[in-house]
Amino acid sequence: MMHLRCSVSDCGTTLDLHDRALACPKCGDLLEVVIDPPPSNPADIRRRWLGRRLSNELRDTSGVWRFRELLPDVYGPHGIVTLTEGNTPIVRGQKTLSLAGLKDLSFKHLGWNPTGSFKDLGMTAGITEAKYVGAKAVACASTGNTAAALAAYAARAGMAGRVYLPAGQASANKLAQALDYGAETIQINGNFDDALNTLLASNDPDLYFLNSINPFRIEGQKTAMIEMLEQLNWQIPDYLVVPGGNLGNSSAFGKAFIELKKFGFIEKTPRIVIVQAAGANPLAQMWESGASELHAVAEPETVATAIRIGNPRSWKKSLQGVRFTNGYVLDVTDEEIGEAKDWIGRDGIGCEPASATTLAGIRKLTQAGKMEADAKVVAILTGHVLKDTDYIIKHHKEHAS
Ligand code: F0G
Repeated sequence: MMHLRCSVSDCGTTLDLHDRALACPKCGDLLEVVIDPPPSNPADIRRRWLGRRLSNELRDTSGVWRFRELLPDVYGPHGIVTLTEGNTPIVRGQKTLSLAGLKDLSFKHLGWNPTGSFKDLGMTAGITEAKYVGAKAVACASTGNTAAALAAYAARAGMAGRVYLPAGQASANKLAQALDYGAETIQINGNFDDALNTLLASNDPDLYFLNSINPFRIEGQKTAMIEMLEQLNWQIPDYLVVPGGNLGNSSAFGKAFIELKKFGFIEKTPRIVIVQAAGANPLAQMWESGASELHAVAEPETVATAIRIGNPRSWKKSLQGVRFTNGYVLDVTDEEIGEAKDWIGRDGIGCEPASATTLAGIRKLTQAGKMEADAKVVAILTGHVLKDTDYIIKHHKEHAS
């Protein structure tokens, strides 16, 4: 029976799958969904997943629910709330190869989702669960993208959406999306960490909570890795590079590889590389120093506002994946982010600033001899180029002379 479990392995606390607790009642750490072993062997299931690409059934047209054998799939064909998320392409690097110092670099562009970021993958799962438990209103704190996704999926489900944003720090484009989809927007004086604390402190029993500490969000985001491996004909890349903010996405990817290996879908995994912005780099600092606890960055600062986060909640979960895959954590400066973003644009792909940490991080690793020039690498682009147009205009004005 699928259930929730404390994500700290030696705690051992379990809860009903649909328990609305946000944290382990015993130790206070994050919860995770325990997935049952799939109903038949991996080869059959992989064929089933591929076959669904030809199907027009609603669940099959979603790049999340197509992989329902590895999801909490208790909602039936009509219980899900979907905007046909997922199904995002892998695009090969061209000019970016020279900046990266690689021969084989691809971008999986999760910014080409319905609301323009990977958050849609988690939100279809989170809102579906919210609907299942009868929630009428949903809320999150956000640097912008989660807010946009929550607003859209809440609208789709006929629920009220409420989003807490750091005042003046979320891009206008993301705020505009949340407004357009009809969410109530609350601007907090402070940063993302303050917005999240405000929401958590509100302790409103009528609100269903949808930040990535919600374990169902992680389940949806996990499917990006299944889809990626399917697109690569299950040829495993050497590295998977992902930006790190609140560290939900890297946690989801780690969980995907842990489960795929456990259930026999893959024999080896890519090495997960998490890249943070230098001004918001608590995990990179921890990694570098070898510390055993995360020390929050009090005043996070970066042009990549999506990842301007000083106290990431999912750090333990994300390190589980990094360690399981023999991965790596590093940071890059705002200048390196800006330059990498220009190159991704020159490949005709484009992304928002936070996504460009990936290419900047790859370049740093190849230059330092820590990533081999002949490695096969996939970088995750997390947000669409139109997510932060103010940044682009400003960046080009500054570099126009
Ligand atoms: N890239 C983009 C474009 C994001 O919006 C985020 C997070 C990240 C990377 C980092 O992902 O938090 O899972 O490590 N955005 C959140 C938000 C915080 O509110 O939209 P993470």
